[in-house]
Amino acid sequence: MGSATGSEVGHAGRLDYDRPMTPGAEVRILHELGEDGLRRLVSSFFCRARTDDVLGPVYRASLDATGEDWPDAERRLAQFLIFRMGGSREYIEQRGHPRLRARHMGFAIDAGGAERWALRMREAMAEAGVPDPIRGELGGFFDQTAAWMVNRADGPGGGPDRGA
Ligand code: HEM
Repeated sequence: MGSATGSEVGHAGRLDYDRPMTPGAEVRILHELGEDGLRRLVSSFFCRARTDDVLGPVYRASLDATGEDWPDAERRLAQFLIFRMGGSREYIEQRGHPRLRARHMGFAIDAGGAERWALRMREAMAEAGVPDPIRGELGGFFDQTAAWMVNRADGPGGGPDRGA
């Protein structure tokens, strides 16, 4: 996991350590949904996440620690997805290299938490009217990325860290 250098960030916003999507998927997703569509998707996700009994407290604790609020988390996730799909580079300009797994190490995420995140995102895609083929591609990306964030064994209190 390195610092923000050009060599780590691909042209379409793909990261060296990020699993590739189907060729051309990012372009199709951005073309179909547009940056506004991705923002709507993230809004819909956060409507669910903030009241979710697993995800809500994790986000709330993180936002309290930084003195921020829901719109800040919403903006960051939307900017990240837009960048990841090859759109505007605001995320990288403001946050540097995503280092997603490292940035999530401070939050206790077990397999159940990752599944919940992906479930709320699937519900959000349905509500935002994301069309079927795109829903499958984006859903696969969310499932894989959420699973990759897992940093604790399942169970109350979490288990030993599974390492980077
Ligand atoms: C697996 C369950 C997940 C949990 C519990 C979780 C939780 C969180 C929390 C609490 C934050 C801090 C909120 C903020 O201040 O931005 C955060 C940040 C973030 N998350 Fe997640 N997340 C998960 C999965 C994912 C996935 C799958 C993605 C990408 C597809 C993602 C992308 C991001 C991004 C881009 C940020 C902002 C990073 C930054 O620039 O600081 N997260 N996440």
